[in-house]
Amino acid sequence: MPLFSSTWFTNNRDPGFASAVGATAAVTLALLVVYKQQKRITASQRSGLKEIPVPKEQYPFFGHLLSLGSVVSRRITEWHNELGSDIIQLNMGIQKWIMLNDPKMAHEIFVTKGAVASARPYMAFTYQKYAMGGKGVVYTDGGKTWRNTRKAVVTTLAPKMVEIFRDVIEQEVAYLVENLVANSDPVTGVDPVHYLQLASLNLILTTCLAKRAKSVNDDLFKRLIKYVEDSIAYGSPENDVSTYVPIMKFLDLFNGGKRKAEGERLLAFRIKTLKEDLIKEARNSSEKCFIKTLYEIKDEHNLDDNDILVTMSDLLIAGTDTTSVSMSWALILLVNRPHIQKKIQAELDAFKAEHKRVPTFGDRSNLPYIAAVQRECMRYRNITHFGIPHVADEDIECQGYILPKGSVIFCNMNGIHMNPNVYENPEEFNPDRFFNLESTMYGAANGRLENRDHYQFGWGRRVCPGIYLSEVELFSTLIQIFADYTLEPPLNEKGQPVYPDDNEAIDAGIVMTPTPYSVRVVKRSATA
Ligand code: HEM
Repeated sequence: MPLFSSTWFTNNRDPGFASAVGATAAVTLALLVVYKQQKRITASQRSGLKEIPVPKEQYPFFGHLLSLGSVVSRRITEWHNELGSDIIQLNMGIQKWIMLNDPKMAHEIFVTKGAVASARPYMAFTYQKYAMGGKGVVYTDGGKTWRNTRKAVVTTLAPKMVEIFRDVIEQEVAYLVENLVANSDPVTGVDPVHYLQLASLNLILTTCLAKRAKSVNDDLFKRLIKYVEDSIAYGSPENDVSTYVPIMKFLDLFNGGKRKAEGERLLAFRIKTLKEDLIKEARNSSEKCFIKTLYEIKDEHNLDDNDILVTMSDLLIAGTDTTSVSMSWALILLVNRPHIQKKIQAELDAFKAEHKRVPTFGDRSNLPYIAAVQRECMRYRNITHFGIPHVADEDIECQGYILPKGSVIFCNMNGIHMNPNVYENPEEFNPDRFFNLESTMYGAANGRLENRDHYQFGWGRRVCPGIYLSEVELFSTLIQIFADYTLEPPLNEKGQPVYPDDNEAIDAGIVMTPTPYSVRVVKRSATA
């Protein structure tokens, strides 16, 4: 189910809830909260600050919840355009959601004012159950526990640590390419999704837990991918609607048994598979891995076993789908653009002619076009709708607007990356816009606003700590595919090419994936 779909309520609704006894009390409570919030805004308006534009399409109690359309980020981009504003406010039940379409504002809020804009919104399951009351990194508020854990994670995933694992990562990419080639039918090609998922999962497993799943049929692969997907789905807002609309508390009452059982199953899996099997094995193994580093620095960062368990689960969930979906977008964008593939291959051929070997990530500075293609693939199609939201700990003033304390702040990834004030001809796929940008994506995301390339990795104190790891994997994948192969579209029964649609996207929860597609992976000497 989509993360922010307008079908939440029709899909999930228990028909009995609307007539449930006690609705009046809940409605009164909801009205009171809404009234209090409106009073705050009115007070801020009186102080002469500008009013954040609000789209018209809203309903009593639900606000804009029911007007979001099927691809929410696109609906929100339309609202930005209709209202002619890079900042808009949505009323999501009792919550205020502030949507940003402009990197300057996002930078001012999340980086310059990051001290009060780096908390996460509270959600009952993710915070209380999944994060055991605030452990781990992803769902924790911005307090001391998060700071300790985040520091440990940033140390563990720092470029110099990832570099220690570069051979392992490049070997994993070699397996990926082998899998794609072996399974690519000469006519129908191969659907790359499971192989990309396997590569990304193995990236986390090998670097963090000194373990790997052997194939897409391996039971470990199937069970962990299910854990990742279920955790994302279970932790998404539609499973916590009473956070937005208190009268929906009835939904929790009616669905409580089933939902509770599903949640308990996930947490039990985590204890059995992650804690008792994988973490234990990794600690006893002679191989190097991040979990061992985390245990080595555990006391220095005040972490206990449960902090490490939730953190490991966070890395698995935050690192697997995001990286495989990024690679999936890159492949579909490139199969549709043979002229870009040719330029990539020309750069690789020139390198091979000079150095008599296939390059690696370490040769990145000699491969400026491939580095530019990597960035443009990331910019052109957003992997997440909104990254992960932040919360204002205090009223925050930005460019004459006031973002009220408690409001949930999102970057509209589609809006920012297609904003003509930020990128020239944003609808055009044009790697040249990033040609000769020297920094890595890791450096750009952690650097000054004017040196940023794209915003897929988020912002400020919460910026993704896994950038370098996924950057090495993505870059190595481009190198290893195009050194020897070309991506071509599948053929129909008349032998004509059928190019996959890279405009449509599936709203798969937190991530946005391409619609299912196939590519033919063709040996270069065999291509025309
Ligand atoms: C292309 C791949 C990836 C993308 C697009 C991505 C994107 C993001 C985004 C947008 C955020 C939220 C930032 C914010 O709140 O402003 C985030 C956070 C996070 N990511 Fe990634 N990520 C990727 C890969 C990874 C990998 C490989 C790992 C770990 C191995 C990882 C671990 C995390 C963690 C732990 C957080 C939470 C940080 C915090 O809340 O302090 N990510 N990521």
